[in-house]
Amino acid sequence: MAIETRKYLDSQNFMEIETPFLIKSTPEGARDFVVPSRMNPGEFYALPQSPQTFKQLLMVSGFDRYCQIVRCFRDEDLRADRQPEFTQIDCEMSFVEREDVLQMFEGLLKHLFKAVKGIEFNEPFERITYDEAMNYFGSDKPDLRFGMQMHDITSTVQGHGFSVFDSAEYVGAIAVPGCAGYSRKQTDELTEWVKRPQVGAKGLVFIKLGDEVKSSIDKFYTPEQIQEIANKCDANKGDLILILCGPKHKTQVALGTLRLEMGARLGLRKGDVFKPLWVTDFPLLEWDDETQRFYAMHHPFTSPKPEDLDKFFSNDKEALADVKANAYDIVLNGNEIGGGSIRIHDRKVQERMFEILGFTHEQAEYRFGFLMNAFKFGAPPHGGLAFGFDRLCALFGGQETIRDYIAFPKNNMGRDVMAEAPSVIDDSQMDELFLKSTYKKEETK
Ligand code: AMO
Repeated sequence: MAIETRKYLDSQNFMEIETPFLIKSTPEGARDFVVPSRMNPGEFYALPQSPQTFKQLLMVSGFDRYCQIVRCFRDEDLRADRQPEFTQIDCEMSFVEREDVLQMFEGLLKHLFKAVKGIEFNEPFERITYDEAMNYFGSDKPDLRFGMQMHDITSTVQGHGFSVFDSAEYVGAIAVPGCAGYSRKQTDELTEWVKRPQVGAKGLVFIKLGDEVKSSIDKFYTPEQIQEIANKCDANKGDLILILCGPKHKTQVALGTLRLEMGARLGLRKGDVFKPLWVTDFPLLEWDDETQRFYAMHHPFTSPKPEDLDKFFSNDKEALADVKANAYDIVLNGNEIGGGSIRIHDRKVQERMFEILGFTHEQAEYRFGFLMNAFKFGAPPHGGLAFGFDRLCALFGGQETIRDYIAFPKNNMGRDVMAEAPSVIDDSQMDELFLKSTYKKEETK
């Protein structure tokens, strides 16, 4: 896979350039792993979460097509598709617009599919916006190997005296093919399943479109009204309609999770079927209630869409939350296998971004002064993306757990259990680094 990646990128005139591992913090949103510096007592390097700032500096300095197959390090909670150290196919191009980037890396993925799997994609990959992805699939990384799209049935079901629906911000449904024969025991089990904290729904309403139509809301809706709901869901005879309600975003995500579960139960998520797509137009910013501030949804160098610049420079919270980013993800079978954006290359826009993110001028200067300074000399418009190499390898192998595709992986606690890392170091080594541990074993567990 790496050889074929390099072959393609070389044929497109990319230059592979190594970037440092001992660096100042990068802004990908996870915690940094840090390395103490013996020669600079009391100071620390960070390991790169990605080469983001370096590749942008390379663009400013005149390299117009950069690539690197590179290790990245992120101290975050681990899952099947996340390791603390992983590999990216990292790329950047200057004097490009979004379309150039999408075409170039759609080309790379098509090349890899052909060379590694013998699969040819002759049609362009599907593209949907973030809003569409959330509305139809309840996820920003939809699995398109099966249908079962979500339907917003809020206006159809409200106003008939069923207070649970009437008081909900959103009511959504999926039609599960061929499951109208589900028994009471099976629907009870599904109801318990959606109430699990990982899904977070309060309850589940169902309509069985069997020979006889049966539902858990017969009391509130006439057979005609039930039929209207079924029509709204594009449901057919034999389908089981599953309905969730509640706050919009949360319920869409829960329904999306239920959709994936039903897809898995029906054997529709096959490892040897591949459905890539682009998801575009992500929100630029995410509001966090706890810290009462905006965070960059991708990273702080992602440009707002030009048509949203007025909102971006306004001080209205709603308007800011509405700003769309010139960012895109590439998704394969419900997994985010890559992401990127067109970058900010204007100092004023970059300064405004830092201001929105709550950095003082001094803080922005301290963390990213080196990049902002480079922008002074005139940065070309540039953009790029990074593929998650381990995820790509796992999915090509029909799996989703990247640990099986990494030599010497870490376990869920981030431990290499074979070599027993991490481990304590000698007192002399600690002294040399001016370090003192305040950790006491009995304090945890
Ligand atoms: P992002 O953070 O989206 O973008 O990462 C790019 C891709 O890397 C993969 N990935 C991971 N794989 C395994 N374990 C992890 N812990 C992990 N975290 C991320 C995903 C993801 O899509 N600098 C930007 C790219 C850019 O803007 O050009 C970046 O790193 O497949």
